[in-house]
Amino acid sequence: MDNKAKKIIIAIDGFSSSGKSTMAKELARRIGYRYIDSGAMYRAVTLYALDHGMIREDGTVDTEALTAALGDIHIDFLPCADGQHTLLNGRDVEQEIRSLRVSSSVSPVAVIPAVRHALVAQQQAFGKERGIVMDGRDIGTTVFPDAELKIYVNAPAATRARRRWLELQQKGDKDSTYEQVLENVMTRDHIDMTREESPLRRADDAIDLDNSDMTIEQQDEWLIDRFNHAVGK
Ligand code: DC
Repeated sequence: MDNKAKKIIIAIDGFSSSGKSTMAKELARRIGYRYIDSGAMYRAVTLYALDHGMIREDGTVDTEALTAALGDIHIDFLPCADGQHTLLNGRDVEQEIRSLRVSSSVSPVAVIPAVRHALVAQQQAFGKERGIVMDGRDIGTTVFPDAELKIYVNAPAATRARRRWLELQQKGDKDSTYEQVLENVMTRDHIDMTREESPLRRADDAIDLDNSDMTIEQQDEWLIDRFNHAVGK
């Protein structure tokens, strides 16, 4: 097989709102690979749990009920003009899973081992044919430890909170303040890094990217260069 035809797995890990989804999506589009947003899968499970009363007033999760319901939760991605939309049991939930309501409850759901095992298995199935760009927290360490290209994206919490807040504003969410979003980002950083099950951790063979001072275009070019290098072009 020549290098041009060689399909690889690209794992992009990093904190929330680090811009990794945007760059992963654009890279996949340019190289003709499939893009999978693993965070969207945790968000969809969280939305299901919220809608089925499995998240209590105090924010704790009814783990038993959610574990029992995992077989009833089907997540898929629908290619659209603007990238792709997340489907939860056939329903387009792309907007809903980005709300602060879901963002605030996703961390306790993502620490449940049964949830992680189910989603990791599905993520690995998506990567069977290779030719995939997947972003998340544990892609280079747990989901695809053999990925040919691993990127670890980092940027300060304040930079990331500002990005997420602007994104929410643009989507018409005028209720969430910057301070709320910053607090949410910092809380999730802490939980993501300190949880027992698949914490956010840089894979030893990952390439670091601090994109704080990069434009989207610079970021995209940087990534294409790394891709070309990984496939030997
Ligand atoms: O990237 P994001 O903000 O959409 O991710 C949503 C949540 O899902 C985040 O709090 C961490 C969790 N997550 C995870 O635990 N493992 C992944 N591979 C991706 C996301």
